[in-house]
Amino acid sequence: MSPMSPTPAEPSPSRTAAVIPAAGRGVRLGPGTPKALRALGGTPMLIHAVRAMAASRAVTLVVVVAPPDGAPEVKNLIDGHALPEHTDYVVVPGGATRQESVKLGLDALPDDVSVVLVHDAARPLVPVDTVDAVIEAVRDGAPAVVPALPLADTVKEVEPGEPGAPEPVLSTPVRARLRAVQTPQGFDRHTLVKAHTSVAVDGEGATDDAGMVEQLGSQVVVVPGHEEAFKVTRPLDLVLAEAVLARRRANDGF
Ligand code: CTP
Ligand code: MG
Repeated sequence: MSPMSPTPAEPSPSRTAAVIPAAGRGVRLGPGTPKALRALGGTPMLIHAVRAMAASRAVTLVVVVAPPDGAPEVKNLIDGHALPEHTDYVVVPGGATRQESVKLGLDALPDDVSVVLVHDAARPLVPVDTVDAVIEAVRDGAPAVVPALPLADTVKEVEPGEPGAPEPVLSTPVRARLRAVQTPQGFDRHTLVKAHTSVAVDGEGATDDAGMVEQLGSQVVVVPGHEEAFKVTRPLDLVLAEAVLARRRANDGF
């Protein structure tokens, strides 16, 4: 090929959006403000989560799913915090379960989005490298990608009983084959929309979007997750999150 040959046209890159379910109350964290609006290092957890998605150059739209009656308040909150210029955002009201909230977020996506991340507002500190690794795996052709880590604890399957009562153990899966899954999970948009259209909300609904895709029979793959992508669930997790932020501030100082 001569040096003057024109470069073949690149296929236009697919637009990537992040849906952030943030409509939960945070019952396990204890009474107070909805979990996503609680402060970490003086900044609401949701703002950390939005910034974590916007930190990826690939993410040009963030859809925040707010508590059902809290969308105007959440929109004001995000308006008051700077985001990178390449990132737009919209806020929609959520539903009674995470599954319904994610569905409502997907309904708000514009037509030109072909790759979708779903990221818990409750995982405010996920590093951008993890976000980018998930996006890259989807762009490389995987219909569904989840970041995950090996488990520290051995896991037992039990026959659940009354709270506090001894529970019979049914089995002990081989720990080396288990992974604890995190977010952002990444999807080919059509695959995720199909899962959310065809899998009915059962009880508390699905807590894991990739699990819904598995139910359709599509292949889900795991990529390495990150310790800092842990979910803020119980009060001790707030202590850990504050410590991670303090460590980042200290490191930035050098
Ligand atoms: N979520 C949501 N809509 C719901 C329930 C949960 O958007 N109806 C979101 C939460 O805001 C959170 C994510 O799903 O960002 C993961 O859920 P979880 O950690 O369980 O948060 P909560 O449901 O708020 O907490 P809890 O289960 O302790 O009440
Ligand atoms: Mg919950």
